[in-house]
Amino acid sequence: MLEEKQQGILYLVGIGPGDPELMTCKAVRVLEQTRVLVGPKARKNGSSNAVEIAAAQVDMRDKSVLELRFPMKKIVLGSDHDPEVVEAWRKAAQTVLGYLEQGEDVAFPTLGDPALYSTAFYLLHTLQELRSEIRVSVIPGITAMAACSARVCVPIGLGDDVVSIVPAAFDDNRLREILHSYDSVVLMKVFRKMDTIVPLLEELNLVEHAVLIERCGMDDQKIYSDVRETVGRELHYFSTLLIRKKEV
Ligand SMILES: C[S@@+](CC[C@H](N)C(=O)[O-])C[C@H]1O[C@@H](n2cnc3c(N)ncnc32)[C@H](O)[C@@H]1O
Repeated sequence: MLEEKQQGILYLVGIGPGDPELMTCKAVRVLEQTRVLVGPKARKNGSSNAVEIAAAQVDMRDKSVLELRFPMKKIVLGSDHDPEVVEAWRKAAQTVLGYLEQGEDVAFPTLGDPALYSTAFYLLHTLQELRSEIRVSVIPGITAMAACSARVCVPIGLGDDVVSIVPAAFDDNRLREILHSYDSVVLMKVFRKMDTIVPLLEELNLVEHAVLIERCGMDDQKIYSDVRETVGRELHYFSTLLIRKKEV
């Protein structure tokens, strides 16, 4: 009787926010040991930020990088996803499944931590729709907000602080409510939103409590202690806004 090949393991690997020294030993080991990597890219001719970042610590010469496309579109959970996005995830999942079923492990390096606004879990979910049993291992990573907080020495939550993490894609009223209600707010994906966020911060007297970190830990990192300076500027996608109302 032919023995069934054991399925390979899908590793969802957090590689930290861009500073190669913020990759964990475990992330480096898993990526070194895995021959097939998924290199998610947002555009047809783009490249994978995560693979580029990982390459600073991991020898990529013998790797097979699957350059799969994951369109960057707003995802609203609980409602139907954009058909282009669903189709891209399905295609990516089928490619990855092909390797897993051959017994080959596949690693998906992802910015920061896989559990925070990463495509990694969508890929896993789509794979689980194709096969109910997927062998998976999640390797946590240092989040961008942890790196940003460390860089400007501003804590995210202390004492009885209640913290909100927002993917900045909210409309003004929902954001106003969050900024009003929480002690500390982390706003991600703000790169095209500062022209509307800054007036909101001014209205709520929060400008003095806000700091924006662009490309934290990378060569051309910038810190905007006065966030009004970001208005009208083209910011990099790697920009995070920290707002903490209380003093230590
Ligand atoms: C799709 S989310 C990924 C978050 C990531 N999974 C994490 O754990 O931090 C992308 C957002 O992370 C933030 N980000 C990632 N790297 C960053 C960096 N080096 N500096 C500042 N913000 C960063 C930005 O807000 C960016 O828009």
